Amino acid sequence: MRKIILAGNWKMFKTQAETIEFVQGFKSLVDDAPVDRDIVLCVPFTDLAILSKTLHGSRIQIGAQNVHWAENGAYTGEISATMLLEIGVRYVIIGHSERRQFFGETNETVNFRLRAAQVAGLKPILCVGETKQERDAGNAEAVIFEQLAKGLLGVDQTNLVIAYEPIWAIGTGDTCEVTEANRICGAIRSKLNNSDVPIQYGGSVKSENIDQIMAQPEIDGALVGGASLEPEMFARIVNYKA
Ligand code: PGA
Repeated sequence: MRKIILAGNWKMFKTQAETIEFVQGFKSLVDDAPVDRDIVLCVPFTDLAILSKTLHGSRIQIGAQNVHWAENGAYTGEISATMLLEIGVRYVIIGHSERRQFFGETNETVNFRLRAAQVAGLKPILCVGETKQERDAGNAEAVIFEQLAKGLLGVDQTNLVIAYEPIWAIGTGDTCEVTEANRICGAIRSKLNNSDVPIQYGGSVKSENIDQIMAQPEIDGALVGGASLEPEMFARIVNYKA
């Protein structure tokens, strides 16, 4: 039985004060969500501690948006898995397309981060997905399969989540057709050695399309950017109707 995971990716949004305000609105709206689903908020580093404190005892779990592979060291601007675990972080997004596009993340560094996160006891959410050009050239699967082959070298597939995020659908309002997203998630699954790895869809997920997305058999959750910033909207996503 695969887990269902609804995760918000706040990217570089919200101060601590705004985080507290969000939780005040969001918590009671998801307290009674069906127990089959995990709820995760992946927030900026500066919001992690306050979130951990405010959510203590709640079913909402906390995620970071990056982690370094070393235990500690001279890596200015980076953060270690131990530092994240200490303040209650359980999930970490790795290899998001914005990290790959703007911060030089490669399949190799993604692989280092994944393995270090797992060794420390964090659950990584590995993001994969193709650009519009790659899709138009008929290379979507090839790109994704390479991201998987290189990213997952030596990775424990019993402690892993994958998010399929077509880059052209991120923040554009241009959601991938649900049947196509389902097809790609199935293709991703065919490359894994554990068929129980939850595979999320991400890219312009909203309260209006979540029910349709979650009705797809290969899709086990969503990684939600813009629509996770607003309590009512993200709560409606978490409370999607099966
Ligand atoms: P979006 O972002 O929901 O705003 O399209 C998704 C993501 O980047 O994870």
